[in-house]
Amino acid sequence: MKKRILFVDDEPLVLQGLQRMLRPMRDEWEMQFADSGTKALELMAVAPCDVVISDMRMPGMNGAELLGRVMQLYPRTVRLILSGHADKELILKCVGSTHQFLSKPCDPEAIRATVRRAAANDDALQSDTLKQLVGRMGRLPSIPTLYTEIIDALNDPDVTLDTIGRIVGKDIAMTAQILKLVNSAFFGLRRQVSSPAEAANYLGLETLRSLVLSINAFSQFDDVSIEGFSFPELWTHSLDTGAAAKAIALLEGADHKLADEAFVAGLLHDTGKVVLAANCPGEYAEVLRLIAHEKIAPCEAEQRVFGVTHSDVGGYLLGLWGLPVTVVEAIAFHHRPASAVVQAFCPLTAVHVADALVHHASTPCPADDPRVDEAYLRTLGLESRLPIWRENFQPKEIPAAL
Ligand SMILES: [Fe+2]
Ligand SMILES: [Fe+2]
Repeated sequence: MKKRILFVDDEPLVLQGLQRMLRPMRDEWEMQFADSGTKALELMAVAPCDVVISDMRMPGMNGAELLGRVMQLYPRTVRLILSGHADKELILKCVGSTHQFLSKPCDPEAIRATVRRAAANDDALQSDTLKQLVGRMGRLPSIPTLYTEIIDALNDPDVTLDTIGRIVGKDIAMTAQILKLVNSAFFGLRRQVSSPAEAANYLGLETLRSLVLSINAFSQFDDVSIEGFSFPELWTHSLDTGAAAKAIALLEGADHKLADEAFVAGLLHDTGKVVLAANCPGEYAEVLRLIAHEKIAPCEAEQRVFGVTHSDVGGYLLGLWGLPVTVVEAIAFHHRPASAVVQAFCPLTAVHVADALVHHASTPCPADDPRVDEAYLRTLGLESRLPIWRENFQPKEIPAAL
């Protein structure tokens, strides 16, 4: 089926240019063009679209406001900002309601690649079984209030890191957890961080936001007990994977943005396990039993019991919560990277490898260890890098569980 894509820009010349430039995509996409946020919402009310690509600066409703509304009304629509002013302030405003930021003048290839990537995540996470399963879960799939407040604040054009820090500071338990982590050897900062605003400054909003999400997810479930499964261990594993993924990205010469996305994706890669175990402890115990007795991989056991895997569940939820396309992709495909549309080094590659290295270091050689897909690395021309990543891998010192 053709994907419905809606472009929003107040300048008619830009819209005409896009229309001309993207004409070759007509077979793949059904394209619509709107010259204001209001018009865009009217068009979406008639028929929701799969992807919205909006300009940032527009009179009336700006791009961040529009995408904030779209996120509330149509959470499954992929939201992209296309803007000529790629400065930090603007990116700050869009964190949360936007899946990805594209800068003008745009190259059609970049738009095409991003849309294809977002659409592929969406297709992979489209199954009815998945939607029904998540739909009947009572415990996690609400977005933490604090997270919603952060996103709302980011829609304000005058938002500062201080404001964000103040919002986080209202939640004392969360603040304590964040400061404990930020000041631990894990982040290795040279000075003591004493407030959430400072933490936001050091870590960047993307990382802070993902910490809020994951700390919330883990701390909610310390009452769940399933034999053979430990939330504190999974938390340690998640932090370790985030750190290792970031280290791999930096070894590959990635820029800060990609390295941060690798960290965030590593931190959140097994969120699906948390959600499944917390909501369906009986079925999850059965998954663990299958892994132990039939010596099958965790994903295969989950597939048998739930009809979906933890990577499907995690990718689906975090896509709804507005994490970047590359992060959602890394989560959704971390056990089968060769199925992703982009076959080049990206956060997915880093998380896939990091996950295997961390598992291997904590439980040397059990049968259910996730393995590095070496054929995938060969396709990327990166097979010779694996020994280097392995050599540089050092499990981090992680503060006590939440
Ligand atoms: Fe996993
Ligand atoms: Fe994992």
